[in-house]
Amino acid sequence: MATATLSYPQLDAYVELPEAELDERIARAKVVLGKRLVVLGHHYQRDEVVKFADFRGDSLKLSQLAAGCTEAEYIVFCGVHFMAESADILSGEHQTVILPDMNAGCSMADMAAIEEVEVCWQELAQTTPARIVPVTYINSTAAIKAFVGRQGGAVCTSSNARKVMEWALTQGEKGLFMPDEHLGRNTAFRMGIPLEKMAVWDPHQDRGGLSLGEVREAKVILWKGHCSVHQRFLPEHVESVRKKYPGIRVIAHPECRWEVCEAADEVGSTELIVKRVKESPPGSQWAVGTEIHLVNRLAAECADKRVISLEDCGCLCSTMFRISPQHLCWTLENLVAGRVVNRVSVDPETKRWARKALERMLQI
Ligand code: 13P
Ligand code: SF4
Repeated sequence: MATATLSYPQLDAYVELPEAELDERIARAKVVLGKRLVVLGHHYQRDEVVKFADFRGDSLKLSQLAAGCTEAEYIVFCGVHFMAESADILSGEHQTVILPDMNAGCSMADMAAIEEVEVCWQELAQTTPARIVPVTYINSTAAIKAFVGRQGGAVCTSSNARKVMEWALTQGEKGLFMPDEHLGRNTAFRMGIPLEKMAVWDPHQDRGGLSLGEVREAKVILWKGHCSVHQRFLPEHVESVRKKYPGIRVIAHPECRWEVCEAADEVGSTELIVKRVKESPPGSQWAVGTEIHLVNRLAAECADKRVISLEDCGCLCSTMFRISPQHLCWTLENLVAGRVVNRVSVDPETKRWARKALERMLQI
């Protein structure tokens, strides 16, 4: 017997659709949904998807937009899971957040499990009487954000990490930065904290692999986590592009290793990278240390400049890539038919505390 759900659009039916048809159907669904829908797109999304975004931006801009788009009933987030979770946390009760493919996760966010963070917190408390303020990068689960909210800390993004860390160190004597060791180190170093005052907590080792003295000496404790995309950029790549293209400027995302960020001319979020490259005069040369879709788009949009990836092979975020026009079309046509698919919904208690940590960030 046929079930009621079979009358709704099924994902399988989209797999072989030609690109032109997908484009037309996505555009049509957007018109039908009108103001009930807003599509947000992160800079790493592929062109075929991001061209349908009503707004595109970095994590900070997109979370501000999610908090501000109060009119839309549906927020379709073309990005990764933690971004959609943040949108759900910051949006209103009347709004529904949708991630076109639920498999679009973030390997960095997966490197900090809430159980590991709780163990770390307890063990740090046994090691030092100092007040520690936790800061979590937005690339983390809602559970970690809620933990941070409960403990009086805040969320940060790549564009406000410094401000948030400075704030944290006025609230306590030490900071615990999760889950990106590189962003934490790059930020603290630029605040004037020497590398010797930073310790790395490895959740897979007993007591984080740190001695009592190391914890007591540290101003900032960095969670051992990283982005596998950005970690592929190496200082040798900076050296090699400078040799090959004299005068080229190197701009890197702060998820890159400390050695790469130190060797670069500029370091900043995806939004800052876009701004710097676009605002530079014709004839400028840029080697960009971030995800390849953004680099290729910048190269196409700035044909009067040389824009290349810092690494020859080009680093791809395979989870961002999971959001396809097929998934977007399927999601939107289901909304037109009155069915919500792939809703990202954070439970009320987690939401309450995670919201506190996100709101602290937006206030700072
Ligand atoms: P931005 O906030 O700079 O867009 O970074 C998000 C991200 O996931 C980078 O890997
Ligand atoms: Fe996560 Fe790295 Fe992809 Fe950003 S680029 S979403 S940090 S895996």
